[in-house]
Amino acid sequence: MTTPPEAATIDLAQRERQAEFDALIEADQRIEPRDWMPEAYRKTLIRQISQHAHSEIIGMQPEGNWITRAPSLKRKAILMAKVQDEAGHGLYLYSAAQTLGITRDEMTEHLIEGRAKYSSIFNYPTPTWADMGAIGWLVDGAAICNQVPLCRASYGPYGRAMVRICKEESFHQRQGFEILLSLMQGTPAQRKMAQDAVNRWYWPSLMMFGPPDDASPNSAQSMAWKIKRFSNDELRQRFIGMLVPQAEVLGVTLPDPELRWDASAERWHTSEIDWSELQEVIAGRGAMNAERIRNRRNAHDEGAWVREAAAEYARKQQARTRSSGERRSSSEERSDETKRPETTEVPS
Ligand SMILES: [Fe+2]
Ligand SMILES: [Fe+2]
Repeated sequence: MTTPPEAATIDLAQRERQAEFDALIEADQRIEPRDWMPEAYRKTLIRQISQHAHSEIIGMQPEGNWITRAPSLKRKAILMAKVQDEAGHGLYLYSAAQTLGITRDEMTEHLIEGRAKYSSIFNYPTPTWADMGAIGWLVDGAAICNQVPLCRASYGPYGRAMVRICKEESFHQRQGFEILLSLMQGTPAQRKMAQDAVNRWYWPSLMMFGPPDDASPNSAQSMAWKIKRFSNDELRQRFIGMLVPQAEVLGVTLPDPELRWDASAERWHTSEIDWSELQEVIAGRGAMNAERIRNRRNAHDEGAWVREAAAEYARKQQARTRSSGERRSSSEERSDETKRPETTEVPS
């Protein structure tokens, strides 16, 4: 059987586009929304960026829980700024995902219907003020380790969004560290509260890097596409290396009796991570899963009037611009008409 000539042309064009894409990736160039990209690359990015955006938005809740109860005006102002930053991160990332052909409405719908994934870390409760410190130090700290390499992600809008996000994440990590430092320099009860929060957030923060490399099926492809630059285990090791000296300064104990530097293997030796607990949270059986989605859905419903008002305002603005444009062009026509007799007087 011979291939029809049109099919052969399509095939050739497809191969050429694929070769151009591969060459851009190979040369460490950015892929931009106008460029052709393989469907699997587009889908992977939509999944990753939208999950990332949802995590930023849901991630406002565990700390939003403490804004009204922050121990001082200064702490309240810092926490509010931090939670607002997370909203901003969500917005940059939704915008980046939109350049790949998914709408913001679709992404929101997936989230509030409970069909979209987001980072499971945000399904843990925040019972004490020390949780604000532990989240900043550990959760935002893990986010930085994960996200700094994403600034070089091959997809332009994603990489550029990450540059700005990372600057803000480092402020988040420092404010968390500073909360824990103040508590650790306080009363025995405050020190106990800080250590308890570190004990609860340490393991979930290690799990934020995803499953071990040998159980992470999508990682190799993401690395070949240069979306991901380091493996889950490499990033986890880097994070532990960052935490150990900081824990010493704080005076907190990282809750892993087996944690030590293995000089011969040149890596941190840790206890086995209990992935079954994370699996429970991912499966929706974490302490806060249902509440996080319910809150998001309520906020979306309660914000309907804002979206309607904004859409109506945009419609009126458009109508106004259109009618002033029409007025302008008809007055130009009129002035043309008034000029016309003069021009007709010019002998041709
Ligand atoms: Fe963030
Ligand atoms: Fe953050």
